[in-house]
Amino acid sequence: MRVAVLASGRGSNFYQIGKAFKEGKISGEIVVLITNNRKARAIEKAEELGINWVFLNPKSFPSREDYDKKIVEILKFLKVDLVCLAGYMLVVTPVFIDAFPNRILNIHPSLLPSFPGLKPHWQALTYGVKISGATVHIVDKGVDTGPIVVQAAVPVLPEDMEDSLSERILRWEHRIYPQAVKWFVDGRVEVNGRNVLIKKA
Ligand code: GRF
Repeated sequence: MRVAVLASGRGSNFYQIGKAFKEGKISGEIVVLITNNRKARAIEKAEELGINWVFLNPKSFPSREDYDKKIVEILKFLKVDLVCLAGYMLVVTPVFIDAFPNRILNIHPSLLPSFPGLKPHWQALTYGVKISGATVHIVDKGVDTGPIVVQAAVPVLPEDMEDSLSERILRWEHRIYPQAVKWFVDGRVEVNGRNVLIKKA
């Protein structure tokens, strides 16, 4: 399978997925990293993994739709089957979602539907939950609302600050995101409305 990753920052999830492909744990390849941020550390990770990357500046496009149309054009040209958002800080527009139905994944560091959107660790700490976690979901037209593929529950400790909680959750993100990608690549994912079934191998 031909996979694309979109990232805006550090790129640690991108790196873990890329590594799983490189090590042959997932068949296929990441054909491109697309970033909206020229300073994203994900770019260095792409170079380390030998993955081609593209920087597209949203400011060079008249609208968010035009930006997404350009991304779709690149992804279709590269015959991409699956798109992974990994710390991608832009909300994807319907132009993009309709071009890849049930084929765009995202990871969010909370147990959705709790704490969608920005600063989920802060939201969890402020709410006072004792368990938070990470969610890989299919991207739909809402923000962090799509069908859930896999989740990991992670304890919130009394002494936690945003940094310590996000670090603990990130370790699980690095496990479940490559796992979810593998399920898709292996053709084991069936989506029925909101319900995602992982078929037996
Ligand atoms: C992760 O916590 C991810 O869940 C969230 O943004 C962060 C990105 O981290 N969407 P990285 O760029 O993958 O290191």
